[in-house]
Order: sequence, then structure tokens, then C-alpha cells
Amino acid sequence: MRHPVVMGNWKLNGSKAMVTELLNGLNAELEGVTGVDVAVAPPALYVDLAERVIKEGGSKIILGAQNTDLKNSGAFTGDMSPEMLKDFGATHIIIGHSERREYHNESDEFVAKKFAFIKENGLTPVLCIGESDAQNEAGETLAVCARQLDAVIKTQGVEALNGAIVAYEPIWAIGTGKAATAEQAQDIHAAIRAHIAQSSEEVAKNLVIQYGGSVKDSNAAELFGMPDIDGALVGGAALDAKGFAAIAKAAAKAKA
Ligand code: PGA
Repeated sequence: MRHPVVMGNWKLNGSKAMVTELLNGLNAELEGVTGVDVAVAPPALYVDLAERVIKEGGSKIILGAQNTDLKNSGAFTGDMSPEMLKDFGATHIIIGHSERREYHNESDEFVAKKFAFIKENGLTPVLCIGESDAQNEAGETLAVCARQLDAVIKTQGVEALNGAIVAYEPIWAIGTGKAATAEQAQDIHAAIRAHIAQSSEEVAKNLVIQYGGSVKDSNAAELFGMPDIDGALVGGAALDAKGFAAIAKAAAKAKA
């Protein structure tokens, strides 16, 4: 049985006051909630503060990050390493988000290298994949997702996906308020799983595949009701403690 994972991607949002308030809110909202792993990825500067607030609240919130670079130390000005993130208790590292692919020209190969380096450091990659609106219109959704996954599978072997998380995020649904329907998302999730099953049925069966793109309290239960949707990567709706906790609770309930 796959255990659902709901992760908040805070993107470039935060301040010391906001991080403290949001996490205190989540600590309270999630008390006693079981059956779902809940993770948050604050901006890197706030990972330290987030670790402290989570610890003080005694909660089980998993700490993550939105990116990492490819070295652990040395002359790499401006970089951030998995080892440093680990030092602050961050374990789940988002890579390949469409915003980084677009604004920082991150290629499939570069993202695959990050995937390998995160695993090498004993952390959990959360690998984002997904097609643009134009690719969707052109019927290329699965081909795009397969290509992005194959960058990892062909260089590291399908077993590299063991213990990792894949987040299917159609770019046209991110931040637009226009989520994929539960049926649409289920179809793609099943196809992604089938693609991985061509290399290993076992790996495919155990892989947590999150949906991301305008997930909110109001559509969460329907999405999680689908057999191949194992949680969510949540952007905008993750900035509100009550709303985000409601999404996490919906996952726990749907997968119980
Ligand atoms: P959204 O973002 O929930 O605001 O659409 C999701 C994401 O980009 O991970």
C-alpha cells in the first residue's frame, strides 16, 4: 500500500513572521492526524527557522526544500547543498519544477543529475514532471512525462525511483485555478505508472505519484479518490494553515 504524501511548495513566499505563524498553525491543525505524510518546502533561507518551529510544536511535519545544487562544498558561489539542507533536517527536495525548468533553463539531464546527487546524500527527491498547455493541446502529455522520467531511468536505472516521489504537475494547471479534473489526472497518473512498469512493475507499484496544479480544499477529496493519485504538491493553497491541513486530511481519509 502506498502511503499518501501531501507537500506544500511555498515558492518565493515567506518572512520570519509568516513562517512562524504558518507552521504554528499547521502544528495545531495537524495534531493527531495520521495516515498521511505532510511536508513543507519553505524558501531555503527559512529552513532553519522552520526546523525550530516544527520541533517546538512537537509535530511530525516533514521538512523539505525547493531546490539544491550539485556539490556539497567548495568554490561554488551562491550554491546550496543537500548536506546543508540535511544539517537543518530537510529531507524532501523538490527538483525539476516547471518554474525552474523555465526561468533557470534546467534541462532533463541537469534535473536527473540533481536526482542522483540527492539520493547519494540519503535524501528524498520530489521530481516534478508535466507538460505545457501547447504540449497538452498537441497530445504530447505522456511523451513529455516519459522523457522527463527517462532522463533518470536511463542514467540511474528504474530502481533509482525507489523511495523517491514523482509529482505530475501539468504546467497549465499551476497557479491558474484551473486544476486537471480528477479523471484527467488519474488517466495520466496511470499512464505514468504504466510507463515505469515497463522497466519494473514493482517500482511502479510502490511509487508515490503526487498531483500538483491548483489543488485546494474543494477539489482535494475528488483527486485523492483516484487510485493512482497518491497525494499532492500544493502551491498557493499551502500558504494557509487551515486550507493546507484540510487537503492533508482529505488525503488521509481517502486513502484510509
Ligand atoms: P499551485 O502550484 O498549487 O499554486 O497551482 C503547485 C506547484 O507549482 O507546485
